[in-house]
Amino acid sequence: MPLSSKNKRVLCKRSMKKDKFATMSFDNIYYVGVDDKRIDLFEGQYKVPEGMTYNSYVIIDEKCAVLDGVDADFTEEWLKKVGDVLKDRSPDYLVVHHMEPDHSAGIKEFTLRYPDATIVSSSKAFMMMNNFFGSDFVKKHLVVTEGDVLNLGAHRLTFINAPMIHWPEVIMSYEEKTKTLFTADAFGRFGASDAKSPWKDEARRYYIGIVGKYGKMVSNLLKKAAALDISRICPLHGPILDSDLDFYLDLYQKWATYTPEERGVTIAYASVYGNTAKAAKLLKEKLSELGCQAVKIYDLSRCDKAEAIASAFMTDSLVVASSTYNGDVFPPMHEFLRGLTERGFKGRKVGIIENGSWAPAVKKTVLEMLKDSEQIRYCENEVKILSAMSDQNREEIEALARELS
Ligand code: FEO
Repeated sequence: MPLSSKNKRVLCKRSMKKDKFATMSFDNIYYVGVDDKRIDLFEGQYKVPEGMTYNSYVIIDEKCAVLDGVDADFTEEWLKKVGDVLKDRSPDYLVVHHMEPDHSAGIKEFTLRYPDATIVSSSKAFMMMNNFFGSDFVKKHLVVTEGDVLNLGAHRLTFINAPMIHWPEVIMSYEEKTKTLFTADAFGRFGASDAKSPWKDEARRYYIGIVGKYGKMVSNLLKKAAALDISRICPLHGPILDSDLDFYLDLYQKWATYTPEERGVTIAYASVYGNTAKAAKLLKEKLSELGCQAVKIYDLSRCDKAEAIASAFMTDSLVVASSTYNGDVFPPMHEFLRGLTERGFKGRKVGIIENGSWAPAVKKTVLEMLKDSEQIRYCENEVKILSAMSDQNREEIEALARELS
């Protein structure tokens, strides 16, 4: 698919489509990934109430290749699926696109079962294999880099370097017969194969949380992808994407360039006794009265911060409301702001509601924490609460709502 040529679509059309998972196979490429319904925190920090998938694929041809593995808890299940697809054949190759353990934990087991298979990966990945598994377990290996081709017969994999999406060793591959791009973590989402939440929401939370810092590298990858004729994207998490590809590519373009997806306001508040929360909720109410429907509000003491952070990247405006605490913002707000700056937050309008009984320090701290964030425009209307909202504060909040709407 030349990226500019087709697939004009609307969101509602996309939401009607069913994502494709484990039963999916095409042109002798078979899905052998697994669902993880036991996991509560991905990478030890991201809530995944709908579980995860770890995707792996097998290409059957004159030569057979297994692409990537799965998390350690599922190695046996994965190897059984691989064996079922291979039947009486042995794999010639294991292609390792990414060395993070959710995809690579079973490599050593694989080499024990299939000692004649050649491991194919980047030079950095082989260094990491040594670090994870010890120095000598790979008997046959093939180092590949940008433009190298692995010829399997009718299928040919051309490799693409994709550093920092999401680790430095990452490679992707393009299979030209089926026009399939194997994208490692890119275009993945949280959620097992029966996840009900919209792809966009859980892919955004996944992307911003995990790859968000590396927008430049993602932009470089998208430039390379634009030169390819792509019919299908096979990520290492979430569904295979085989239609409406502009939808996904457009979103990635926005996320990689830190461009807001929509006009709207994210309100994030951190409140000790509830007075700051009342101010944040009043702002939401006033915005609604003014007809601004795209408003998300997050109680940072209780919500999933990864979702709040993803929302701040989604909308073009952010309001932070915090109590003062130890001459700083309240700790949940500190963690939120740090989460933004670590991921390159920029190009947004920002409003501040500060609360402090004797020495408000929120505005000062927010300005300091966002000082290296580019193209931040602060709202002219400020709200300074001294313990509980006064009538003047209510007027300030109304003025802030008018400015944001
Ligand atoms: Fe899904 Fe970066 O591992």
